[in-house]
Amino acid sequence: MSADAEYIYKEALARIEKADAEGLRGAEVEYLGRKGKLTQLLRTLGELPAAKRAPAGKRLNEIKVELEDAVAARKTQLGGEDSVGWVDMTEPPPAKFRQPIGHIHPVSQVLEDIENVFLSMGFEIIDGPEVETDWYNFEALNIPPQHPARDMQDTFYLEGGQVLRTHTSPMQIRYATDHKPPIRIIAPGKVYRSENEDASHSWSFHQVEGLVVDTDTTLTDLHGTLLAMMRGTLGDKTEVRLRPSFFPYTEPSVEMDATCPRCGGSGCVVCAGTGWLEMGGAGMVHPRVLRNVGLDPEKYQGFAFGFGPERIAMIKYDITDVRDFWRPRISFLEQF
Ligand code: PHE
Repeated sequence: MSADAEYIYKEALARIEKADAEGLRGAEVEYLGRKGKLTQLLRTLGELPAAKRAPAGKRLNEIKVELEDAVAARKTQLGGEDSVGWVDMTEPPPAKFRQPIGHIHPVSQVLEDIENVFLSMGFEIIDGPEVETDWYNFEALNIPPQHPARDMQDTFYLEGGQVLRTHTSPMQIRYATDHKPPIRIIAPGKVYRSENEDASHSWSFHQVEGLVVDTDTTLTDLHGTLLAMMRGTLGDKTEVRLRPSFFPYTEPSVEMDATCPRCGGSGCVVCAGTGWLEMGGAGMVHPRVLRNVGLDPEKYQGFAFGFGPERIAMIKYDITDVRDFWRPRISFLEQF
């Protein structure tokens, strides 16, 4: 099929480029017409095995566009009925002059899905600094200097005591300090940790933080929010479960698991036979954190969560090494 297509393409192009007005009309019918050679080839697409259909269809359509452009260009050259005395500068150039427009990084694709889910629920998306003070990254989150929770989030320290943020949780503090409830935000962005790199650890990765503060917020709202998010990225059949955990800035704290999209929860290699995948941390905002941002915990409650889009992208696209996301190998990234 592809050999036929390429042969027809070359043959047609050669004809079109040399054709006179009448020959051009003939060539157009012969290749692009309703019973034309290319049209017929397009009709046989359905007979191909599913895996070959998409690439073959893509190529055939490219050829179709290029031949149509070639016909139009030749018509203009010949001064035929389609030639015009003015140029429409807004018209896209013929296919062969078009620059490849690139491709959205798989992590950005997942981030877009996530952002769309939260926008649809009325959340605001905010941005913040990657260089943080100890206050925002740790202390305001109820992680004092000697607290063991700092061990798991060792990072890069700058002169003057600043740190590269180890999570997006400082954005909870930054936003809630400056805004009155109701608060409904997500804060996606890059975070940094002092890690020995391996297939599942990288010294820099993304997180998406979420924070909701209001007067009647419950753990059930947290569950529903996470469920909407996971369904929006891993599919409508996804379920979410919460397991007890610990974070100094939430009480109670939970670990969020989603059903494995590969096996639908029955157990497979991706989820190590458990049916569940650990997706992130969450919990109800700790009263001390509320006080740190100037809110009265008797009046307000809220929930917070944090998870990694790389992890979702790895599960979704079957990527086994997190380092592949940032290696300069376009051919790898173009697959997704
Ligand atoms: N910041 C936590 C982490 O990096 C995740 C988290 C965010 C947990 C918000 C609870 C609330 O692991």
